[in-house]
Amino acid sequence: MLDVAVLISGSGTNLQALIDACADDDFPARIVLVISNNPGVKGLERAEKAGIPTKVINHRDYDSRESFDEQIHEALKESGAKLICLAGFMRILDARFVNRWRNRMLNIHPSLLPSFKGLHTQERALEAGVRFTGCTVHFVNPELDDGPIITQAVIAIDPDDDPDTLAAKVLEKEHIIYPQALKLVAEGRVRVVGNKVTIQGADYSDEDIINPKP
Ligand code: GAR
Repeated sequence: MLDVAVLISGSGTNLQALIDACADDDFPARIVLVISNNPGVKGLERAEKAGIPTKVINHRDYDSRESFDEQIHEALKESGAKLICLAGFMRILDARFVNRWRNRMLNIHPSLLPSFKGLHTQERALEAGVRFTGCTVHFVNPELDDGPIITQAVIAIDPDDDPDTLAAKVLEKEHIIYPQALKLVAEGRVRVVGNKVTIQGADYSDEDIINPKP
């Protein structure tokens, strides 16, 4: 059983997808701590409802990024977590922190990386006129929204999509691929070689991984 901490900043729908997956007795991971940098967010409520310990580490209370990150690191160590899942965590973590957790920290991003890193991904995808977009689960490198890709899901963009409709379609896929990626990692099937991931002996076809069905 892999002990996981989830870092959030807001509504936590991806956290909820991970909580729901972990509720299955056969799922190889469990969430031991949820940390939010924002107090009073819906994601904290979701964790409390599931009986998961929570901590608010408010970045506004720290005078440097390093001291904020150090506090998070201490809380993670204390929890015994062996893996971090960033789930809508909207703070940049410094390179020292990321290197300490290298290949032990996952992130979900609402685009097909390496396209559309950063914010306002759906607006930018629509502006660029791409026909397809999607979401990505990847290991975290010190660069923003960068690192070895574990899973992606693709959606076709309709001519009448706007940023909100697109975000909703992408989010639906996020909730499928994040638990799937966590499962693969927790089962020890994911190897990182250079900047690439190989998935060993997984009972998923490529089609399941690229374009998963719920
Ligand atoms: C999700 O769409 C996630 O991919 C995105 O924030 C949203 C959080 O929603 N993350 C990023 O943009 C990180 N670069 P949630 O709080 O409902 O899971």
